[in-house]
Amino acid sequence: MQQTGSHTFSFFEVQVARIRSLTPDAVEIALHIPGELKPHFDFVPGQHLMLEVCLDGNTYRRSYSLCNAPGEPLTLAVKRMPGGIVSNFLVTRLKVGDLLRISTPVGSFRLDAVHKHVVLIGAGSGITPLLSMFRNGTHRRLKMSLLYGNQSPESTMFWDEFNSFNPSARVTHFFSQAHETGCFFGRINGETLSSYFTSYPEDLRAEGYYLCGPSGMIDSVRAYLETQGISSKRIHSEYFSAPEVDNAGLVKNEISKSQMCVILEGDRYEVQWHSSDATMLESIRKDGINAPFSCKKGVCGSCRAKVSKGSVNLFSNYALTEEEIQEGYILTCQCVPTSEILEVSFDE
Ligand code: FES
Repeated sequence: MQQTGSHTFSFFEVQVARIRSLTPDAVEIALHIPGELKPHFDFVPGQHLMLEVCLDGNTYRRSYSLCNAPGEPLTLAVKRMPGGIVSNFLVTRLKVGDLLRISTPVGSFRLDAVHKHVVLIGAGSGITPLLSMFRNGTHRRLKMSLLYGNQSPESTMFWDEFNSFNPSARVTHFFSQAHETGCFFGRINGETLSSYFTSYPEDLRAEGYYLCGPSGMIDSVRAYLETQGISSKRIHSEYFSAPEVDNAGLVKNEISKSQMCVILEGDRYEVQWHSSDATMLESIRKDGINAPFSCKKGVCGSCRAKVSKGSVNLFSNYALTEEEIQEGYILTCQCVPTSEILEVSFDE
């Protein structure tokens, strides 16, 4: 069993119950969770699972958001990415009845249960955590607006579902390569959002804004909302991909080694970090400690831990909020120590 932040998670093997084609390069995968495991798979809309896949002798770990509402059969949606080893396998080779090794749900991107009016903004496969929120919000009759960006109707995942009548939700499509009646033309950005909110000014008074997609979309939407006076506390986001940043220069550090005390599942381990290890996570795992991780890009938050002694340099972060950083949380896959003594806990 492993822990991330305050969320304990475990890995289980479960069977693929159903595979449904969504677009020419995306599928929805329903998983069969046996009755005795069901309590392990309670989750809040927006959270994700980690998948561990062994292909040609290599083990890969990837995060996929749940797209069902709580209480419905567990489903993931996967879009094939250029060069994506795991996504290609899942879209083209996975079969009903196969076993998949999945973690229990994790993640701090979550629909706030007290919100009554929410705006969901996503692009491409960033729709998956928003779909879970949308389905949950439909059951709860939340006032919802979904803004969904794609190239064209043909490349839009869950097109039919979003176009069926829903009394509590407004769905607005943005297409970058297709002119469609009643839809916006162009990517979701400050310019197209300005047109949208001119038509629907009430959506500037929502209690929560939930954004998921590529980094460029999230950054431009966040910047636009903040110019409209919406405080950052009302804006929640999850990046589906990090921008390509060369961290090589940032990894250079003033110190070349650090003595770390690592707390995981109540146990304490002494680990030496050396500058040749690059990140803290690499040092920790090299010592055989089963610290949690998934993307290793500062996006998924799986490797989150809390520093209680010493200091670090966090060089890439797309998962932690300002408040979490102030409280001492770090992403161990994106950190090097800046003090010779460090204490860090994965249990908080
Ligand atoms: S492993 Fe994903 S943020 Fe560190």
